[in-house]
Amino acid sequence: MWVEGRVTKRIDWNKQLFSLRIEADIAPFVAGQFIKLSELQQGKRIARAYSLVNPPRADYLEVLAIKVEDGTLSPNLHNLHVGETIEVSSAAAGFLVLDEVPPAKHLWLMATGTGIGPYLSMLATDQPWQRFDKVVVVYGVRYARDLAYLDVLEQYLQRYPQQFVLQTMVTRENYAGALVKRIPEALDDGSLENAVGLSLSPESSQVMLCGNPEMITAAMQSLEGKGLSKNLRRKPGQVTVERYW
Ligand SMILES: Cc1cc2nc3c(=O)[nH]c(=O)nc-3n(C[C@H](O)[C@H](O)[C@H](O)COP(=O)(O)OP(=O)(O)OC[C@H]3O[C@@H](n4cnc5c(N)ncnc54)[C@H](O)[C@@H]3O)c2cc1C
Ligand SMILES: NC(=O)c1ccc[n+]([C@@H]2O[C@H](COP(=O)([O-])OP(=O)(O)OC[C@H]3O[C@@H](n4cnc5c(N)ncnc54)[C@H](OP(=O)(O)O)[C@@H]3O)[C@@H](O)[C@H]2O)c1
Repeated sequence: MWVEGRVTKRIDWNKQLFSLRIEADIAPFVAGQFIKLSELQQGKRIARAYSLVNPPRADYLEVLAIKVEDGTLSPNLHNLHVGETIEVSSAAAGFLVLDEVPPAKHLWLMATGTGIGPYLSMLATDQPWQRFDKVVVVYGVRYARDLAYLDVLEQYLQRYPQQFVLQTMVTRENYAGALVKRIPEALDDGSLENAVGLSLSPESSQVMLCGNPEMITAAMQSLEGKGLSKNLRRKPGQVTVERYW
């Protein structure tokens, strides 16, 4: 169940937000899935889920995490140095994967905060580019300094100029090109579709939502207002979600 992982690299995006690259021998996974990181605290096992940012073909694991003040595990992850170890689940899991998403013209990948992680893994595979005419990433954060992997996302703009759209949403300061609005509000008032230049509809769109659970609830409500419904195995729809807490 648990294998030893060794930290081989870390990136500090800002004081709280960081990435850990980890070497661990786990089973093959699908882009969008998460692993668990774990440690014993006073004899009690503490385990938390972290989405993999790296594509399945990589020979390392990478997670993007935020230090939650007063959190049980994340402050300890934030303290990990290169060379130190952490326990890793031997297999990844999760259904926020493109195999679960029905065909459509447009794929919208919407995230707040660390919820961008699974999309980075997906974008580094062929699947989104082969299956959809347009791939739209909507990335919502508090401050511009919270936009992790922006350089990676901008490379897709160069590589797929006709196919890829990146819309940042920075809620607590002005930032070039970003909407100063939460995702659900920008869905409600049409400003997101306007900025992206595409409409959301059950006929043309598949949407993934990942991150803050309150964002997901509010965005889901807004998307339902546009005729989209939750994508379930027993009842396919247009919105596939992963709540981080
Ligand atoms: C499927 C899944 C995938 C996840 N992937 C990631 C990931 O890639 N990166 C990541 O940082 N976290 C991710 N999480 C959240 C992660 O598992 C932990 O909950 C988080 O690190 C806090 O753990 P903790 O023990 O420090 O805090 P706890 O003591 O467990 O406190 C939990 C509280 O922290 C807050 N919180 C938890 N996660 C976040 C977050 N990501 N951003 C903001 N506030 C948060 C919430 O208020 C929550 O109630 C994921 C969760 C799930 C269920
Ligand atoms: N980011 C930081 O600078 C910072 C600093 C100290 C500690 N932390 C820790 O990190 C945790 C998470 O921070 P985070 O910035 O990654 O994630 P977050 O609080 O989920 O914020 C990310 C984005 O989601 C938006 N959002 C929040 N609630 C929403 C809702 N109900 N509906 C729609 N959108 C919503 C935020 O907008 P709003 O800006 O309008 O809230 C922001 O644009 C905090 O709980 C805290 O423990 C973060």
